[in-house]
Amino acid sequence: MGDDFDFNPFDLDTRRNPFSLYARGRREHPVHPHTGLPITSVFRYADVQAILKDPATWSSRFPPPPGVDPENFPEPSMLGQDPPQHTRLRGLVNQAFTPRIIRRLEPRMVDIANELLDEALERREVDFVQALTYPLPVIIIAEIIGVPPADREQFKEWSDEAVANLGNALFMPPPPERLQRLGKLIGEMGSYFVRLAEERRRQPREDLLTGLVQAEVEGSKLTQDEMVRMLVLLLVAGNETTTTLIGNAVLELLAHPDELARLRAEPGLLESAVEEVLRYSSPVQMDPRRATRRVELHGHTIEPGQFVVSWLGSANRDEEVFADGERFDVARDDSRHLAFGYGTHYCLGANLARLEAQVALRTLLARTRSFERTDDEPLPLHPSIVFRGVTKLPLRLVAA
Ligand code: HEM
Repeated sequence: MGDDFDFNPFDLDTRRNPFSLYARGRREHPVHPHTGLPITSVFRYADVQAILKDPATWSSRFPPPPGVDPENFPEPSMLGQDPPQHTRLRGLVNQAFTPRIIRRLEPRMVDIANELLDEALERREVDFVQALTYPLPVIIIAEIIGVPPADREQFKEWSDEAVANLGNALFMPPPPERLQRLGKLIGEMGSYFVRLAEERRRQPREDLLTGLVQAEVEGSKLTQDEMVRMLVLLLVAGNETTTTLIGNAVLELLAHPDELARLRAEPGLLESAVEEVLRYSSPVQMDPRRATRRVELHGHTIEPGQFVVSWLGSANRDEEVFADGERFDVARDDSRHLAFGYGTHYCLGANLARLEAQVALRTLLARTRSFERTDDEPLPLHPSIVFRGVTKLPLRLVAA
């Protein structure tokens, strides 16, 4: 057992390829306290799963970062709530994301993917992020919520700004300017949604916004603030993540040409291929919680108030669960991965994200004879350590 294990999630080489360190973490340091920080990393599937299914011990509610006045710290969305508050809020939106409702969106997704690819194929060389992986999820979530198409660009800017440093704050307190910008951003998004909600109150439509305006669960209505936080959450939680999933799928297929050939030959493997990308190159790599009591884990003591970071990207390669877990296999067909979390906060948009990625890939494969990187330069990584993904993906596309 080596004592020199130094897992620094900010290190650029580690971010590009964390998997050998994850494997060592799982083997030798399943619980790894970070020197000088009240944070502990956890690498094994069984531990991550146990943490995520026990919100009484591992809370999603975090205090304001050091130096931030609790009075000025906004109430979190449901992502940062524990039961029973979480249960109530989740109940209000669950029905908008059932598999049946999401299935109904498929023809619209296919149309959008085809339109975006028409344009990309005409240009032949594109940044695939700008061309497809980013616009598809934004257009879809904006339509689900009921945001007018004209406001989409503004949406993207808000969403980008809100997720830029997501999660990094746990390790490094954000500078005051950043917190101020975030406050301003939430304010802007808030007044936008309040205006839109007013319109729906006067003139209801078939959209999620109307549903939220009318929502009443067990006699408790959603307050205006809760509604705004919910909409901001949907926007922020759904865009970057799905963009990243589709981009990672393209990158893994390019890195594994045999698997790409297999998928082209057997389109029936599409669903398992998307599950495999979720497992093997998980868009969300880490999921933090805060201990509510003293916990002993593999010989380490975690004190109340300390943060535990579950590395989903490591759990998803755990050899105890996934045979030959370091191999990318489009036919694996195993959705036990934790890429969408587990338990109470299991991703609300999992069905939506899966379907969007399936449609995007199916359309890309059907419409192209081949696609390839335009150069071998390392691609720019998403600035937040929460994400595994690139912000640019220049591709050359050859039409089918
Ligand atoms: C590939 C795409 C996606 C990935 C990898 C992903 C991942 C995750 C993960 C890991 C969590 C759990 C967070 C936790 O345990 O605290 C989560 C929660 C959540 N996700 Fe996703 N997500 C994706 C797409 C989406 C989409 C498209 C939406 C839009 C509806 C969405 C909405 C949410 C919401 C609202 C939550 C919070 C649920 C709760 O607190 O109960 N996600 N997601």
